Amino acid sequence: MADLNIQGLTKRFGGVTAVEDVNLHVADGEFVTLLGPSGCGKSTTLAAVAGLDRADGGRIQVGETVYFDASRGIYLPPEARNCGLVFQSYALWPHMTVAENVAFPLTLRKVPAAERKRRIEEVLGLVEMERFAARYPHELSGGQQQRVALARTLVYRPAILLLDEPLSNLDAKLRDRARAWLAELRTRLRLTTIYVTHDQIEALSLSDRIVVMNGGHIAQIGTPQQIYEHPADPFVADFIGTTNFLPARVVDSTPAGGRAVLELADGQRMEALSESATPAGSRVTLAFRPEQMLVARPGTEPAGGSVLATRVTSRSYVGGQWQVGLDLAGATLRLETRQPPSEDELHLWLPSTGGILFRGGADVTA
Ligand SMILES: Nc1ncnc2c1ncn2[C@@H]1O[C@H](COP(=O)(O)OP(=O)(O)O)[C@@H](O)[C@H]1O
Ligand SMILES: [Mg+2]
Repeated sequence: MADLNIQGLTKRFGGVTAVEDVNLHVADGEFVTLLGPSGCGKSTTLAAVAGLDRADGGRIQVGETVYFDASRGIYLPPEARNCGLVFQSYALWPHMTVAENVAFPLTLRKVPAAERKRRIEEVLGLVEMERFAARYPHELSGGQQQRVALARTLVYRPAILLLDEPLSNLDAKLRDRARAWLAELRTRLRLTTIYVTHDQIEALSLSDRIVVMNGGHIAQIGTPQQIYEHPADPFVADFIGTTNFLPARVVDSTPAGGRAVLELADGQRMEALSESATPAGSRVTLAFRPEQMLVARPGTEPAGGSVLATRVTSRSYVGGQWQVGLDLAGATLRLETRQPPSEDELHLWLPSTGGILFRGGADVTA
């Protein structure tokens, strides 16, 4: 067991900067997820830790061992780094049984036969595959194969575990089950882990902390709750969960922590809490979650919010509830409700403290 320290990690491929100045500390036993859209540099970061790719700049240390230090010319080859790596493709040897696949890394490391047998049993028990020891990979489901791949990694007791989209080859139902199983295993193992995914549900449900990446940079690091409830910028807000974005203009200058009066493009006014001071006339974007909006019923709205007139643009039944598309002053909002609106005009209630106010309004796509 060990902690992992990444400092100033930079990797370029020709003219493309895949990751730039990534700084991350993963505590001993912590489960950290790199989350972000395809191409944002997640796999590149993981490959640099595993030593599959030599980075251009920065430093990587696991426990007391320096894996990589560009300024001192240190680069440990992958086999000298004690990392357990599992990829999206299971990469089991097809001609070997489950037990033989799991034994392989131990044979490579010249672990004596009796110890080998004991460890194989232990690790197959851990991934709940002991009954399948004599099977061949093609006799297993995708989820089972992925458990064997994980067992083959855990059996040599790596200092850190690196998982790159391990569930993304599974179909939706299997993936749900595998995720629940992984969450359980995680609490039993307490192994320092970096988990890579573009799936926000996996990230939110598995992680101690999430690192949201965007274009080779870290956009935000925080607990799942911090990331969901206090996104650092519109990109994070948009990437995690469903977010409605509403462009507006500040009517009166507002001190930090004050209630800002906002004017929408169609002249409607509303209130929102402003974390930083905003001058009058500045352009802002209010971001809020669908679950923060209520359908207003005249005279019964709770205090401390604004009522806004919207137009219904779509209604879709999504099982148990309806997703309703709304036009509010030219912005498209998504509302979740148990009953579809019968009229095309709908009044929304938004709490003044519910949303997050971001400066600017140009580069946000709803
Ligand atoms: N071997 C490579 N050669 C050239 N470009 C690469 C290579 N690997 C990754 N890249 C580029 O680096 C960026 C980050 O890629 P990657 O780390 O694989 O993203 P992710 O895993 O987040 O989808 C992308 O623009 C990708 O095209
Ligand atoms: Mg990747």
